Parts: sequence; structure tokens; C-alpha cells
Amino acid sequence: MNSVYANKNIVLGVTGGIAAYKAAEICSALVQGGASVHVIMTESATKFVGPVTFRALTGHQVITGLWDEPREFEIAHVSLPDKADLLLVVPATANIIGKVANGVADDMLSTTIMATKAPVVFAPAMNWKMWANPVMQKNVEKLTALGYRFIEPECGRLACGEEGKGRLASPGVILKAVADVLAIKNDLDGVAILVTAGPTQEPIDPVRMIVNRSSGKMGYAVARAAVERGAKVILVSGPTDIPEPAGVELVKVQTAAEMLSAVMARLPEAKVVIGAAAVADFTPKSPGNQKIKKTGDELSIELQPTTDITAEVGRNKGDRVLVGFAAETENLIKNAQSKLASKNYDFVVANDVSKPGIGFGADENEVTIIGKDGSVREVARAPKLDIANEILDSVKQALGA
Ligand SMILES: Cc1cc2nc3c(=O)[nH]c(=O)nc-3n(C[C@H](O)[C@H](O)[C@H](O)COP(=O)(O)O)c2cc1C
Repeated sequence: MNSVYANKNIVLGVTGGIAAYKAAEICSALVQGGASVHVIMTESATKFVGPVTFRALTGHQVITGLWDEPREFEIAHVSLPDKADLLLVVPATANIIGKVANGVADDMLSTTIMATKAPVVFAPAMNWKMWANPVMQKNVEKLTALGYRFIEPECGRLACGEEGKGRLASPGVILKAVADVLAIKNDLDGVAILVTAGPTQEPIDPVRMIVNRSSGKMGYAVARAAVERGAKVILVSGPTDIPEPAGVELVKVQTAAEMLSAVMARLPEAKVVIGAAAVADFTPKSPGNQKIKKTGDELSIELQPTTDITAEVGRNKGDRVLVGFAAETENLIKNAQSKLASKNYDFVVANDVSKPGIGFGADENEVTIIGKDGSVREVARAPKLDIANEILDSVKQALGA
């Protein structure tokens, strides 16, 4: 069978929400695609749909309790997670997300999630107030940083009769997300990649600083995508609110000068350098040792240029692959091409930060990847993780060349 699901072992977790019946359609599509699907239902889920539905669809015993006598696996909560290529939770209640985010393993599903090394994908569905609850959002943020994936719920009419964001994503979206995760290649296995991310902060005095609008999301997405593809990642990051991503070696810095020394110190280990950080171009020449007092007079702060980090890497590049970013507000391609040449990049990732909804702080981006060989690849608007994978595809090609 020529399907991305063919011969894959998928554990489907079903939890206790009204959308539980929709899990049957997903289950059926996966089985039809050639996957071997094992279903774990929470006790609450069984109040909404009967296990017999999933047993009939999958041909396998459905596990509903930690203390069930498993017929197919010796110790199901250990053998199932080992066997799984992917664990999908449809629908995912606020409860299961909260449990996983806090290390609770008190039923078969949460225990299996805790014990698996396979990718875990949650498709949440709940009342819009539950989804919008800051506790819920913190849990999602925490789990996302740890490498768990979420298929965002949709906006619309909810089963409770209210309108809002919380409806289970459509089967097509869920199946595509599963296919994308199953298609992740381990094609950067062991490749050492140095990534920079985030803004830098340049002190004016002990309480004030010059910053920029970079959130660090693009660089963190590159780091995460690289780890997922097997790379050994060193992430040199300016100050961000993003939780530490799983599997990377994180080096935290504050100023452009600190980022420069961290990058140059780790450069010998790296085969690839991806400079996604928005490094300050200027820094106060003589930052005050004490807080500068307000006197009513004008204040001039003398700025001096910082060392251009990616250009410095470019000068010491050796046989490394070097990728830089060009965040521009005008003449995007022309400005990006001149950076590519002057800084000895192999690729420049150009994005127009003046466009709403992409670039700084956004969850999505839209970029043009320009190669030193003259190649120009437009990458349509997509989540930053997808953009990161496109960039890594170019890197992979350059490594193979
Ligand atoms: C009729 C009904 C519908 C529910 N729908 C949802 C839902 O859509 N999403 C959700 O997160 N919780 C929903 N709940 C609450 C969960 O069932 C409850 O939090 C339960 O503890 C979840 O257990 P589980 O995560 O182990 O399946 C619903 C409860 C009831 C009674």
C-alpha cells in the first residue's frame, strides 16, 4: 500500500469529550491507509462511544483501563508506547492535556503518553472558555516547547451551543498533520547545527536597554525541527519567553557581544550555522554604571556598531553550511541577495517583516530562500516549524553536494 500510514503503528487515544465519536472516522481512515491502530480510551471516553466501535474498526482489543488484562501485549503500558510510530489523541480533553503537562500518569492513556518516545499529537476539543483559559494555554505552550504537537481547534458552533474556538479540527486537517509527522525524516542524524535565536539586549544603564521586536520563535522552530530530524543542536539564544526546547543544548546570552563569543566558541563543533537571531547592529558606547537621572535636559546616547556575527562566521566558514536571515521592510530580494554575497552565506532566508501576520512575534512566516547558486525558492505562508523544515531541506541538499 502506497500510503504514508502503511505499516505504521499508531496508538489512538480517545478521551471524554463530545467529539469522541469523530475519532471513529479518523481511526477508520488510518486503518484504510494501512496503519495498525491500537485504541486506548479513557473511562470518560467510554461514556460517549462504545469500545466495540473501535474494536470493529481496528480489529484489535481496545484498552480502557490500566488494570485490563491485555491479550495482545505483555505489559501494555510499556509495550504499546515502544511499538508506536505515533501517538494521536482525538479528541484531547483539557484534562488529558493538563495531566500530561504536569506529569500525571494515572490511567492507561496518560501512562502510555509518559512512557513513549514516539511523537505525540493532540487534537484538542472543548468549550471555548476552557480552551482560552490561561492555565490551558500555558499547558499547551509548555508541552509544545517539549516537542508535543497540537492541532489547533477550529472556530465555530460548539456542541454546547456557544460559538468560539474549541471545535475539533476537521478530519482532513488531523490526517494531514499525522501524515506530516510520520513523514519526518531522520536525514540530519548526528549533524551538528548551531542556531542563533531571539533578540539581543544592549544596556544603556543598569535599568534600561535597547531591544528589538524579535520573539525568537523562528530560531526556536529551526532548532526544534533540526532535533526532530536527528541533528545535534546548540541553540544560542537571546532573551525570550519561549520555554527551553527539548533535546537542544541551550546557551543563553543577553548582548550582541555575548552572542558573538558564544557562537565563536562553539563554531568548531558545528557543521551548519543558522543565524536566525535579530542581533543589535548598534550598542551604547559607554553604558552608565548607575541609572541615568532625568534632569529635564535632552539626552544623547552614543552608539557604536556591534560585530556582525554571521559575517564573522562567514569569514571563518571553512566547509560549513551557513544560513542567514534578512528581515527587510523594503527591496526584500535585492537586499537579501546583497547580504548573501557580502557575508559568504550559502543561503539567505528573506522575509518581509512589514507584512501583517508574519515575521516578528508571529506564529507563521512566509519566506524566500535564496541560494548562492542563484536558486530562489518561495515558501508560502506556513507555521514557523514548516518554514524551518523547508530551510533544513535546503541545508540537507547543500550538505549532500
Ligand atoms: C457531556 C459532557 C461533555 C464534555 N465535553 C468535553 C469536551 O468536549 N472537552 C473537554 O475537555 N471536556 C469535556 N467534558 C469534561 C470531561 O469529560 C472531563 O473533564 C473528564 O474528566 C475527562 O476525562 P478524560 O480526560 O480522562 O477523558 C465533558 C463532560 C461532559 C459531561
